Amino acid sequence: MKVLVTGGAGFIGSNFVRLTLQVKPEARITVLDALTYAGNGESLPADERVRLIQGDIADPDVVNELVKNADVVVHFAAESHNDNSLDNPWPFVHTNVVGTFTLLEAVRRHDVRFHHISTDEVYGDLELDDPAKFTPTTPYNPSSPSSATKAGSDLLVRAWVRSFQVEATISNCSNNYGPLQHVEKFIPRQITNIIDGVKPKLYGAGLNVRDWIHVDDHNSAVWAIIDRGRIGETYLIGADGELDNKTVIEMILEVMGQPRDAYDHVADRPGHDMRYAIDATKTREELGWEPGFRDFAAGLADTVAWYREHEDWWRRQKAEAEERYARLGR
Ligand code: NAD
Ligand code: DAU
Repeated sequence: MKVLVTGGAGFIGSNFVRLTLQVKPEARITVLDALTYAGNGESLPADERVRLIQGDIADPDVVNELVKNADVVVHFAAESHNDNSLDNPWPFVHTNVVGTFTLLEAVRRHDVRFHHISTDEVYGDLELDDPAKFTPTTPYNPSSPSSATKAGSDLLVRAWVRSFQVEATISNCSNNYGPLQHVEKFIPRQITNIIDGVKPKLYGAGLNVRDWIHVDDHNSAVWAIIDRGRIGETYLIGADGELDNKTVIEMILEVMGQPRDAYDHVADRPGHDMRYAIDATKTREELGWEPGFRDFAAGLADTVAWYREHEDWWRRQKAEAEERYARLGR
């Protein structure tokens, strides 16, 4: 099986490549990645079954050539960080919308199976006391340029399935944690701050809730969808991991041997979504998928250990990320 993984040098994509080598040993993997600030070739395993092509998913020449030779395209490439989208939305439109369009045209032309990786952010946010969670039929209601462009990409995929019979599926997952995540994101930012002797930074009161899932569970669900999902369907991926940000910061501090209150409150993110929560019943019941990581505290401790052991991997990103946060006042 020839697998084309877009964005495979990023956090979730590089973990997907690693998982794929284990669960599909016969697979030959081509990673197409622009190696933006968020991509790192060193995140990929050195293995003869994996090759990295540096290129832009919005470049039709590069994309056509690679798609033509693939059996399946798994599309992770995106601009993924909300704070950046509030600072400069254009790269989000370029990659998330134009890039996805370019891939869809290529899989349409060459009749190649496509799986689109998306996010729960497209549904907007929930109230803290809302008994409902997001389901595949929740109306789209994105809040930020990041989530609006991801919503746009999902709608393009749906339209290409219906209008052109493209063989595609979509997954919308909740917040991922685990190794190889860029230090701009919430959990690695706080871990690496503490390693550097800097206090963690909590936006606003820290009551916002995210539904945490280990990256390996996200990726095992993606394979379940590619293997057994129905064409044209949307599957939600989540592991019932709702926690507010204040609790997560306190847990990180505790795991790292610091007082639980040793953090700073900083300015809130404009338009900050209050709560995300996934109902993954369809994915579990239809595909028989179950998450393997059920203990967030244990997964967090493993993640802390990974960042302690891999300073060479994250050190170069750290100063640049913190400069950006300093400019944004966060
Ligand atoms: P990331 O920012 O770590 O990685 C994105 C990768 O895409 C990088 O390697 C980057 O170089 C590459 N890229 C960006 N623009 C490109 C372009 N124009 N052409 C080719 N490559 C390009 O992101 P991530 O956190 O790994 O997210 C991967 C996917 O999963 C995204 O589609 C995101 O929306 C989705 N997702 C993420 C989360 C999460 O918690 N991080 C949750 C649900 C869904
Ligand atoms: O839900 C899926 C989404 O999860 C993905 O679509 C995005 O690509 C991914 O980045 C993530 O989005 P969030 O905005 O939820 O993640 P982030 O790591 O930026 O922030 C998580 C929460 O922590 C959010 O409520 C903001 C807060 N936060 C973040 C940072 C960086 C802080 O309190 N302090 C921080 O320093």
